[in-house]
Amino acid sequence: MEMPRRRKPLLLLAVSVLALAWPASCADPVLFPVAKHAATSLYTIPVRDGANHVIDLAGPLLWSTCASDHLPAKFSCGDPVCKLANAYPPPGCREAGQPCKQQCKAYPYNPITGQCAAASLIHTRLVANTTDGKNPLRQVSVRAVAACAPRKLLARLPRDAAGVAGLAASGLALPAQVAASQRVASKFMLCLPRRDEGVAIFGGGPLFLLPESAIGDFTYTTLLSKRGSSSYYLPVKAVAVGKARVPLPRDALATGGVVLGTTAPYTALRADVYRPLVDAFDKALTREWNNTRRVAAVAPFELCYDSKTLPGPTRIGWLVPDIDLVLEGGKTNWTFSGLSSMVDVNNFAASCLGFVEMKPEKGGYGGAPAVVIGGFQMENHVLQFDLERRRLGFARVPFYTSCSNFNFTRAG
Ligand SMILES: *[C@@H]1O[C@H](CO)[C@@H](O)[C@H](O)[C@H]1NC(C)=O
Ligand SMILES: *[C@@H]1O[C@H](CO)[C@@H](O)[C@H](O)[C@H]1NC(C)=O
Ligand SMILES: *[C@@H]1O[C@H](CO)[C@@H](O)[C@H](O)[C@H]1NC(C)=O
Ligand SMILES: *[C@@H]1O[C@H](CO)[C@@H](O)[C@H](O)[C@H]1NC(C)=O
Repeated sequence: MEMPRRRKPLLLLAVSVLALAWPASCADPVLFPVAKHAATSLYTIPVRDGANHVIDLAGPLLWSTCASDHLPAKFSCGDPVCKLANAYPPPGCREAGQPCKQQCKAYPYNPITGQCAAASLIHTRLVANTTDGKNPLRQVSVRAVAACAPRKLLARLPRDAAGVAGLAASGLALPAQVAASQRVASKFMLCLPRRDEGVAIFGGGPLFLLPESAIGDFTYTTLLSKRGSSSYYLPVKAVAVGKARVPLPRDALATGGVVLGTTAPYTALRADVYRPLVDAFDKALTREWNNTRRVAAVAPFELCYDSKTLPGPTRIGWLVPDIDLVLEGGKTNWTFSGLSSMVDVNNFAASCLGFVEMKPEKGGYGGAPAVVIGGFQMENHVLQFDLERRRLGFARVPFYTSCSNFNFTRAG
């Protein structure tokens, strides 16, 4: 449906010949459980020695606090690995501007605090299971290069987190490192859980969730990139509520763009996009259900309703107007229904529109975007990032199962 920006036929050929020549067991995709940390709403995967790492879709590196017995790898300033490590200097990181002297430094970034630090690079091995998409198969060790950050860079991450696993389309992020080490495709699937454990699979599909349903019916859209930014951008042309376009200021979405962000708990919109969306949602809801009753705001949300006056609940959530992200001229939409748009609060007494206003100073990679699609809205969707074809496939998980229904028991 879209033209990939740059094809690398020779490289792809070389990779596929290698994959064919390799014993099939080495080419199985690699599985990680994904946990949601309740207090921070961040998602973690156990990568190094089982230690949890916060996943960051925009993160270009894998970084951890490293034990003092880890010998730094000797990467010279001119080493290609050093170039990859510094391909995306973190936003506002003054240290990263220093010229490289003798030994290569990387600049890991904490996406919550916005802090960075200078770090050395090490060779490490990640322990994981391969998968057939239904169960774990066998344990493998994945060779990787990680940055060793000082402990202070862990500020505001979950207490049991030892670092950040970047999932961007860059050379030292997790997808590329798993692809290189295991000779699997440069693609990954993410199924973020609302609670318990979801699943991430690196190297390709399929994905089955109990009771034995394969997730299919993907809608595809182009993954865009922006110079200097490691974020994934989507070609969102408009936003609609209940099928009616939300009137936005001219070029509001194009200014800054629309990115995917696992470190934003809820979709955050810049003020000029947020205000029209909130107004349109309240109008569309009350037009259809004229007895809904607004209640006091529950931070961080603004639009909250008395649950007794909302239509529903049903197995597909509250029957509120759909919110559409209109992609590529309206040929495809990413549609958020009640399950993905409404957040129940105060023990279900109220339910709030789960979209929040962006804090002005939150720049992040590539400057302030117009919209960051956050974790809550991505949960219980299967997102398929194909980094070779530069496209994103997305599918809503059927209501009778969820991302927490992967069978983590090894077969036989
Ligand atoms: C691999 O799967 C087995 C069986 O579920 C599990 O006990 C083990 O902890 C897994 N290993 C890793 C590294 O996740
Ligand atoms: C996408 O959403 C817009 C606005 O709600 C609607 O007009 C259009 O028909 C939708 N397209 C598809 C393919 O559903
Ligand atoms: C609310 O909607 C009902 C049914 O659609 C209608 O009969 C009633 O007049 C409406 N009330 C108001 C105040 O608009
Ligand atoms: C999970 O997989 C194991 C191994 O194949 C199987 O024995 C078990 O029945 C599965 N669990 C469920 C709930 O289907």
